[in-house]
Amino acid sequence: MIRSVIRGVGAYLPQKIMTNADLAKIVDTSDEWIVERSGIRQRHIAAEGEYTSDLAIAAAKKALAMAGREGTDIDLFVVATSTPDDTFPSTASKVQGAIGKPGAPSFDVQAVCSGFIYGLAVADNFVRAGQSKCAMVIGAEIFSRILDWKDRTTCVLFGDGAGAVVLTAEEGKGDTSDRGILSTHLHSDGRHHDMLYVDGGVSTTQTTGLLRMKGKEVFRHAVVNLADAVREALAANNMTIDDVDWLVPHQANRRILDSTAHKLGLDPAKVVITVDQHANTSAASIPLALNAAVQDGRIKPGQILLLEAMGGGFTWGSALVRM
Ligand code: ACO
Repeated sequence: MIRSVIRGVGAYLPQKIMTNADLAKIVDTSDEWIVERSGIRQRHIAAEGEYTSDLAIAAAKKALAMAGREGTDIDLFVVATSTPDDTFPSTASKVQGAIGKPGAPSFDVQAVCSGFIYGLAVADNFVRAGQSKCAMVIGAEIFSRILDWKDRTTCVLFGDGAGAVVLTAEEGKGDTSDRGILSTHLHSDGRHHDMLYVDGGVSTTQTTGLLRMKGKEVFRHAVVNLADAVREALAANNMTIDDVDWLVPHQANRRILDSTAHKLGLDPAKVVITVDQHANTSAASIPLALNAAVQDGRIKPGQILLLEAMGGGFTWGSALVRM
């Protein structure tokens, strides 16, 4: 059985850091409120003239270096983003044009904060179907450009960044001792479209729009859906929560992460948390967290990782991976 094995991980955060104290100069908020309600201490903000594709390319280069590969080895580029450079062409095509081989396929996936899980699932299916031998999945976002900087209930929660993985097709036995992506599960429920959305778009207002969110409802749904997604992934692989070495969740909010871990009976020390450093970077947050724990040596080859996310739509899902 062919498996998609994660051979490279990389990330990039824009240079400019905006702390909670900096935010308190713009809106009526405080470091204390933001830390208590979200666990966020700072976020990175893309520079003027710096685009989502720039963040994506920087992260991709680091993932390629770890994998010992060149951009021209990549035969599939998938970029998960809700904040593309332009309406079209895709941000993935810009990445492919900058570092890839002419002719290699590229496209964007849009599932907001679940985008990286969706992108990983798509790439994994290409690899397992024999259509890709070396795929790149990138989550890249510049949410700072769709925030209402006058709305303290949303602007304090998000930031910019990118993360990437290189997947290579490798032969496995077909059981959970294999390295690579062991399962992916994707879900959506569009009835909740108006809980977290951007109030503009190509066919509606012909503007980009700004992010709007019913925070309490999102929180409530997130804890339930994420715990269900974890249980579903474990059941599909005949595993229990004790088999998981690391939960690498979408970094939305510290309280969502804590509540989900508590609901699952998971040791909080097994949850990779980076939301304090970069806030919610939507599709970029899982590979940013993954990269942090790989680079500092917490995540080791052979370990079982459970990746999960929920985002606007609603969309949600999981990926169970042996590193
Ligand atoms: N600074 C200070 N006060 C604030 C701020 C702020 N930035 N924002 C809101 N407040 C005030 C409110 O006005 C309210 O004041 P009031 O009591 O006088 O009316 C008070 O704080 C409490 O507001 P609530 O909205 O009840 O605060 P809550 O405890 O629900 O926390 C939060 C808000 C952090 C948004 C929470 O609902 C949440 O975490 N929701 C999940 C949202 C999320 O993470 N979304 C990410 C995208 S989806 C995903 O990735 C899973």
